[in-house]
Amino acid sequence: MKLKFLGHSAWLIEGSKKVVIDPFITGNPQAKVKAEDLYDVDYIVVTHGHGDHLGDTYDIARHSGATVVANYEISLYLSSKGIQNVHSMHIGGKYVFPDGVGFKLTPALHGSAIIDGKDVIYGGNPAGVVVFMDDKAIYHAGDTGLTLDMKLLADELIDVALLPIGGNYTMDVKDAAKAASFVKPKLAIPMHYKTFPVIDANPEEFVKEAKRLGINALVVAPGEYVEL
Ligand code: NI
Ligand code: MN
Repeated sequence: MKLKFLGHSAWLIEGSKKVVIDPFITGNPQAKVKAEDLYDVDYIVVTHGHGDHLGDTYDIARHSGATVVANYEISLYLSSKGIQNVHSMHIGGKYVFPDGVGFKLTPALHGSAIIDGKDVIYGGNPAGVVVFMDDKAIYHAGDTGLTLDMKLLADELIDVALLPIGGNYTMDVKDAAKAASFVKPKLAIPMHYKTFPVIDANPEEFVKEAKRLGINALVVAPGEYVEL
């Protein structure tokens, strides 16, 4: 399985199926791919309604026919825009598709408003997600502050945890390293930093702090991948 960092919080998981999480590509200064490079994905996961996560979901869903996995409110919004293949879930819920790919939405402390022109649309509760595929479990925290609830994720036997470290809107380096120590993944990888000046953070500091807490961590640059 390949876990490819598309920049910001966008990740492509390539295993027996292709899953893209938070595909913010257009307008993402870190993106090394184009939205059309993702027209062959099987699933799109949207953790919350903010533009830097909802991103190119509409475009990719329309061209790929991929199943969009999101909370009920975002699913409703996408359905109202003509995206039919949506699978709505909510926090704490897990669902395994017939092809064996599973998703579980996890709590996130954040917002989820969808901005549509001049309208601010309620996007439900923000989430993180655990993706289960090919006997691996990948945790993508979405945007969130540090929570004690993350300790419960240790029971999911997470292989890789993708954690926001940029601060201001989410955990900073120190909190993210603490989150890693709660989740106890085999590998922690930082995301959601440097895209905008306000979330400037040093990913190597995260790696150092995570290792100090006994968690293996690695920086993956935008456009690069790790093999599991
Ligand atoms: Ni956000
Ligand atoms: Mn964000």
